[in-house]
Amino acid sequence: MFTPEMLESVKKVEATRAARMQTEPRRMTAEEKDTLLKAFHPDYRADGFAEIKIGSNKGEKAPLELAQLLNSNSRILGVDIDLNNVDYYVYVLVIGGGGAGASAAIEADNAGANVMIVTKLRIGDANTMMAEGGIQAADKPNDSPVQHYLDAFGGGHFAARPELLRRLVMEAPDAIKWLNELGVMFDKDEDGNMVTTHGGGTSRKRMHAAKDYSGAEIMRTLRDEVINRGIPVVDFTSAVELIKDDRGQVAGAVLLNMETDEYLVAKAKTVIIATGGAGRLHYQNFPTSNHYGATADGLVMGYRAGAPLLYQDTIQYHPTGVAFPSQIFGALVTEKVRSLGAMLVNVDGEAFMHPLETRDVSAASIIRECKERGKGVETPLGQGIWLDTPMIELIGGEGTIEKRIPAMLRMYLNYGIDMRKVPILIYPTLHYQNGGLEIGGEGFTKTIPNLLVAGEAVGGIHGRNRLMGNSLLDIIVFGRNAGKAAAAKAKDVELGEMNLDHIKAYADELEAAGVATGDVSPLLLPKYARKGR
Ligand code: FUM
Repeated sequence: MFTPEMLESVKKVEATRAARMQTEPRRMTAEEKDTLLKAFHPDYRADGFAEIKIGSNKGEKAPLELAQLLNSNSRILGVDIDLNNVDYYVYVLVIGGGGAGASAAIEADNAGANVMIVTKLRIGDANTMMAEGGIQAADKPNDSPVQHYLDAFGGGHFAARPELLRRLVMEAPDAIKWLNELGVMFDKDEDGNMVTTHGGGTSRKRMHAAKDYSGAEIMRTLRDEVINRGIPVVDFTSAVELIKDDRGQVAGAVLLNMETDEYLVAKAKTVIIATGGAGRLHYQNFPTSNHYGATADGLVMGYRAGAPLLYQDTIQYHPTGVAFPSQIFGALVTEKVRSLGAMLVNVDGEAFMHPLETRDVSAASIIRECKERGKGVETPLGQGIWLDTPMIELIGGEGTIEKRIPAMLRMYLNYGIDMRKVPILIYPTLHYQNGGLEIGGEGFTKTIPNLLVAGEAVGGIHGRNRLMGNSLLDIIVFGRNAGKAAAAKAKDVELGEMNLDHIKAYADELEAAGVATGDVSPLLLPKYARKGR
């Protein structure tokens, strides 16, 4: 369990607890936040970024590892793929088997379209499944979508695309209703009303949850619905490049069977990229809360085909990843732990910040406490800050942790740590890509006809920082919309001759720019994936 040094520090946390419970730490001013972010948020570390050498975002910066993938040739450059040999032909091709992909497929099916999901792992192996704390929606009498908009717009540094954020908040109540009717077991009181809590940066309690496994519960329900409807799911099959036609429209995707290494051709009238995030690229060597397949494939495929990126240089580090024990290093400790009352406390037992600042500010503050002020707790893999979880039971009453965050309790008990009795050690972990492919309000990319994007692969919904619970929301809102829009559009699409010319054009552009990395992309699996079978 804890080292002797940690136990010494726990005594200090315990000694200050009663006094800390009497005074809420003050919120930072806008100027303080700005200064803090510039000095300590990883997005401001110049050495963590590199230039994108070609394409629509040429000259802009991206995290080193993403820039490297964008500055690479296609893994099928030079591979002889017969596009006339079509393995699948559908109206709506959904790439990705997470919450956004499943929602899109369900709505496309609802609209009567012939839809298919391809996913490189299994349906549900996705960041949706890993989400814990909840999903936002302004559906209580003291709240409104306008209030939700203001919170999210401010939290995202006023950079969200208004038409996207507007859709997110306006359609949130209906998203909750839809999920509830599909069978998601939301937390409810004795009268059947949804229990809601605060998240960082929210002015109203609008976080709806299924304990602390909200994402798993939502994904379970969506996956069941996909299966019950008989929507085809081709699993262990990764999309590796988009196919276009001679009119410049998207016309399908080249797929790779991950088990046989065989390439397949999927022809489609519309394509929805719902490939999720990039945590497994481990920007700046951070651990991650993301699932195994989060390697930015959709961003790479979309960009190579000509779809611009937006805010690809802004990443979310969740303030509270596990810092100790090492076996679960980087795993998510839901923000709900702080919503329920746990404070962030340094090695000397001091509360150094308000526990519900927005995520970028919280992460930067924790990094400063460790790196500049020397107030972190030493761990085998670095440093950590205490999250004073026994406070939850003191505030909410005995049994609150078991009732509201049972998965977290069990995760720590597995390692002999009872978070009801002792605090836990956390440090920021790579959690979310705020940026992604640019879309318009209906979900279509602006440059490639019939190509849509939904979920974490989209840039611009949240601006430069996302609030807790707005990601589970965006996968539902934008997933559903993409499915409906793609199904409607597919009825009118006439496909021309299919080709992969953009792959060769990209290679030529790389060569002309003098870029020769020797790498290929998309990555598909993390660098440390076992090779061979
Ligand atoms: O802290 C959390 O439970 C994470 C939620 C989110 O990223 O929205």
